[in-house]
Amino acid sequence: MYAITGATGNTGSVIAAKLLARGEKVRVIGRDASRLEGFVHKGAEAFVADVTDAAALTKAFTGTKAVYAMIPPNIAAPDASGYQERVNDALATAITNAGVGHAVVLSSIGVDKPDKTGPVVALHNLEQRLNSVAGLNALYIRASYFMQNTLAQIAVIQNFGILGGPLRADLPLAMIAARDIGEWAAEELLRLSFSGKQARELLGHRDLDYREVASIIGKAIGKPNLTYSQFPPMLIKPALLQSGMSSSMADLILEMSEALNSGYMAPLEPRSAQNTTPTSFETFVAEEFVPRFARSR
Ligand SMILES: NC(=O)c1ccc[n+]([C@@H]2O[C@H](COP(=O)([O-])OP(=O)(O)OC[C@H]3O[C@@H](n4cnc5c(N)ncnc54)[C@H](OP(=O)(O)O)[C@@H]3O)[C@@H](O)[C@H]2O)c1
Repeated sequence: MYAITGATGNTGSVIAAKLLARGEKVRVIGRDASRLEGFVHKGAEAFVADVTDAAALTKAFTGTKAVYAMIPPNIAAPDASGYQERVNDALATAITNAGVGHAVVLSSIGVDKPDKTGPVVALHNLEQRLNSVAGLNALYIRASYFMQNTLAQIAVIQNFGILGGPLRADLPLAMIAARDIGEWAAEELLRLSFSGKQARELLGHRDLDYREVASIIGKAIGKPNLTYSQFPPMLIKPALLQSGMSSSMADLILEMSEALNSGYMAPLEPRSAQNTTPTSFETFVAEEFVPRFARSR
């Protein structure tokens, strides 16, 4: 039995689907049984739990061969860091008390830094917490910038006719499709060949900056002259609040953006065949961005 947190999400859903397709037993974890039903029809066991509930997670992880652990985003949390640390407490407690042998853990580039990386500080702390769990074999997936982050641009395009955000227009970003993380994590869960505490960077298909992002999206949605503008934090924060983010989460996002812009937060490895994944940004745009953009009109 495998236990998958965030099973209805971008990465967890790919993992759960792949393990089920290989005939594995899977316990899918989420907050709402109805959203887990699709997996139940394919043979999964649904487990309704909040990731801040250590006792529930302990039950969910008990008797499993391996676990996929992640901190689900909660952009509306009034104390965003506090929420993330409550998840860390619950995950570490449950992994310890359930005696989990192997865990694949969603982490991020930038976790080599203990502070000033916004929401990534909590992933640094999660790795540190799990490093002290004796007997746990943990594989930390240090993923780069998700292509899914660009979906937030749909509202910007609708409102302003351009792309805009806090990142520098010419900042090369190693952009990864979340599905590639899921595919990679599923393979590792099936192989279970990792031991001790290991980290692997995944850097997506290639590096591209937001000028190129605008150009690729523009061509795909029939606006070939689409451009990107970097906006100052004082303009970005109200927009983030309006999108439903708490003030503390918006501050974390702006701190991370500054860390990326300055190069403080960056991959540690050069790009290689090992850390490059197959889905290109063009494919992501065609398959995920364009349909979402069309539905939003
Ligand atoms: N964005 C980036 O650039 C980036 C880069 C590196 C790492 N990361 C990491 O990736 C994570 C996001 O991964 P993802 O995209 O796979 O996640 P996701 O799709 O946003 O969310 C995963 C699932 O978690 C569940 N969930 C939410 N709150 C929960 C709670 N309190 N208790 C239990 N389940 C809950 C939700 O399912 P239900 O609604 O069904 O409960 C959701 O579908 C981030 O949090 C970050 O740690 C992100």
